[in-house]
Amino acid sequence: MHDQVPFARRRRVPSEVECLSKSKRLETRAWASTLVVVVALRSTLLRSPGLGEAAHRLWKHSLLAASATQEIASELPPWETAGFLAGLLHDLGQLVVLGFVAELPAWQEDGSDPSAETVDKILDATHAPLGAMVLASWGFPEAFCEAVLTHHDSSQATENTISLAGAMELGHRIANQIEEGWPSDCGDLPEFLISLGARAGLDVDRLADVAAEAEANLEALTKLS
Ligand SMILES: [Fe+2]
Ligand SMILES: [Fe+2]
Repeated sequence: MHDQVPFARRRRVPSEVECLSKSKRLETRAWASTLVVVVALRSTLLRSPGLGEAAHRLWKHSLLAASATQEIASELPPWETAGFLAGLLHDLGQLVVLGFVAELPAWQEDGSDPSAETVDKILDATHAPLGAMVLASWGFPEAFCEAVLTHHDSSQATENTISLAGAMELGHRIANQIEEGWPSDCGDLPEFLISLGARAGLDVDRLADVAAEAEANLEALTKLS
């Protein structure tokens, strides 16, 4: 009796070219969905009446964080192609809060706007869980949502998520530092940024490279708008 089954379906081993083109297809699909989110987020933030100057600042911050997180995550499997989207969406909850704040005057007897201090307090308290909730309702992976939830303190993330959460927090803090002004001497960077970089395997020179790349990308992306 033959120990081979002549008509059994044999699994064909894909060639290297096929494997490469499959990973290319996955990469292309990831970039296509990223592009859709970029366009949707950009028109919501920049074209919605009533969201004000804060929406423009959020758009710029999101683009800087997207480029920085992409650089950081590009060597962190399995997140190599997720960094740009992760950085772009890390503060999505702020958009929800800005939309809510724009509606608030209609609910006030005198129609007044809430103070900037009140808006900041609402943003601080709610934007991370709100962003994670919205992304979960859109079907984003649990780890991605958890990274958004913990992006202000990635040490709170679970083991499966901590590398993406760390990249996202670092991308967000690099964007903040660019907005405040990147120091000409890297030794003048805040200690927390240096140690967060070290946790992700980036020394101060690499942090400066990532920041310079993010600024250059922001300029290029802004020209496209
Ligand atoms: Fe945030
Ligand atoms: Fe942020």
